[in-house]
Amino acid sequence: MRAALPPALAPRVTALRLAEGTASAVLDVAGFDAVERERSEAALRDALAAVPGVRDVRVAMVADKPVRRILAVGSGKGGVGKSTLAANLAVALARAGRKVGLVDADIYGPSQPRLMGTEGRKPQARDSKMIPLAGYGGLPVLSMGNLIEDGRAIAWRGPMASNALGQLIDADWGDAELLVVDLPPGTGDVQLTMLQRHRPVGAVIVSTPQDLALIDAARAIQLFGQAGVPVIGMVENMAGYICPHCGEVSDPFGSGGAEAAAAEMGLPFLGRIPLDITIRRESDAGTPPAAGEGPVADGFAAIARRIATWLDNQSGLNLQPGRQ
Ligand SMILES: Nc1ncnc2c1ncn2[C@@H]1O[C@H](COP(=O)(O)OP(=O)(O)O)[C@@H](O)[C@H]1O
Ligand SMILES: [Mg+2]
Repeated sequence: MRAALPPALAPRVTALRLAEGTASAVLDVAGFDAVERERSEAALRDALAAVPGVRDVRVAMVADKPVRRILAVGSGKGGVGKSTLAANLAVALARAGRKVGLVDADIYGPSQPRLMGTEGRKPQARDSKMIPLAGYGGLPVLSMGNLIEDGRAIAWRGPMASNALGQLIDADWGDAELLVVDLPPGTGDVQLTMLQRHRPVGAVIVSTPQDLALIDAARAIQLFGQAGVPVIGMVENMAGYICPHCGEVSDPFGSGGAEAAAAEMGLPFLGRIPLDITIRRESDAGTPPAAGEGPVADGFAAIARRIATWLDNQSGLNLQPGRQ
C-alpha cells in the first residue's frame, strides 16, 4: 500500500496493511504527550483514508519504552568493597555493550562521585526529573553525594531516605536498560523498604573472605529473600594480597571463604577480586580499574559476564517497565 505519510511520522509507522478495504498500521507514540498522540494519530488516519480503495482505517498505538531493570549490589557491612564492585560492574557491563546506569543508593556514605569522577558536580533537572551526570567514560550516574553540600553529615530518616532514593531511580535514564544500584550496607528497615519499593530483578552480594563479614553477608542474603529478590550470587573481594613489589600472592584474610559460604547456602559463586593497591589507587582517582587492561579488569569482566548471562536467562516476570 502506498500512503503519503507525514515525514515526521513515517519512521514511527510499522505493520502497514490494506486488506478488504481496511487499512491498518501500528503507530509508535513513545515519548509523546497526550496532544502529540492525538495529533499524530489523526494525521496517520487522514493519510491512510486518502489512499484509493480504503473504506476503513485502524490504528494501533504502542509506546515502546525501554524495559529497565535494577541490579542490586549489597553487603552485610560496610568497607568490604560494595561500592568498588558496583562501579566496576557497571563499567564492565557497559564495556560488554549493555546500556547501564549507576545509582548510588548508599545515601549515608555515598562514594560513587569519587569512584566515577563526578565529585563537585550537580545534576540538572528536566520536567521535574533529574538528569544523570556523565561519569567515567560517559556512564550515567546519580548519587546523593552530588546533591548535598560537601562534608555535610546526612541524617536521613527512613521515609526521607526512601523518597530520595526514589528520585534517583526515577530519573531521566534515557535508553539505559539496567540500573546497577549500590545499596547502603546492612540489613535494616531502610534497605528492606528500598528493595520492596524498587523490586530489583536480582542481587549480588559482596563479602571479604573473613568469617565475620561472611556472617553479615548471610544476613544480607536473608534480607533479599525476605524482600523476594533473587540472589544471583556472591563475589569475594580482597581475596589474596598481590604484593605491588614482587607480585607474590598472599592471603592476609584467608581466601575462598566466600566461595565455601556460597556453596553452603546453595548460591552461585560469581568470582574473586584480589586485594590490590592499584584497585584502591585507580578507584580514588576516579578511573575504575574495570576500564583498564590486565587481570583485575579481566576479573571484573568475568563477573559481569556471569551476571549478564543470568539476566538474559530471566523470564519476564520481574521486569520493571522503564519510566521515562
Ligand atoms: N580489591 C580491593 N583491593 C584494594 N582496595 C580495595 C579493594 N576493594 C575495595 N578497596 C578499597 O577499600 C575501601 C572500601 O571499599 P568500598 O568499595 O568503599 O567499600 P563499601 O562500599 O563496601 O563500604 C576503599 O578505599 C576501596 O578503594
Ligand atoms: Mg560504599
